[in-house]
Amino acid sequence: MIDKKSIEQLIQEARQAQKNAYAPYSQFTVGAAALGIDGNVYKGCNVENASYGLTICAERNAMFHGAACGCYEFPWLAIVGDSQDYTLPCGACRQVMAEFHVQHVVLTKPDNTYTIVSLQQLLPYCFELESGGIHGEEI
Ligand code: THU
Repeated sequence: MIDKKSIEQLIQEARQAQKNAYAPYSQFTVGAAALGIDGNVYKGCNVENASYGLTICAERNAMFHGAACGCYEFPWLAIVGDSQDYTLPCGACRQVMAEFHVQHVVLTKPDNTYTIVSLQQLLPYCFELESGGIHGEEI
């Protein structure tokens, strides 16, 4: 666990990244901040494309930013958007979170109030090459 101040800081970093979102098609801007195991915070925003399917979400952009810097493990990840309620990560991003060992996801509302959920809650029974259950357990 990290303290309240660090969580609020992570949310602020995600808000900063959200400002750089490139979302001319949906107008829906998202920011994410991943706390790496190396202690660095890696930020990402959504980046859209005229060929819509090429769009990348903020969460994956943040984690890939970390990977590009040599960090592949992010125990904490904060997501911000302007949805009325919590901005939730899409399925593809949840699978990438599993790859990069995200444990706790900070979901925020527009007023920056937040709740913490585990990746296990967001993505039970996720795909693993060697799996037959959840982390070795029987289904
Ligand atoms: N988006 C994200 O960045 N993260 C999510 O978890 C869901 C959706 C972006 C993709 C697209 O640019 C816009 O939000 C609308 O779908």
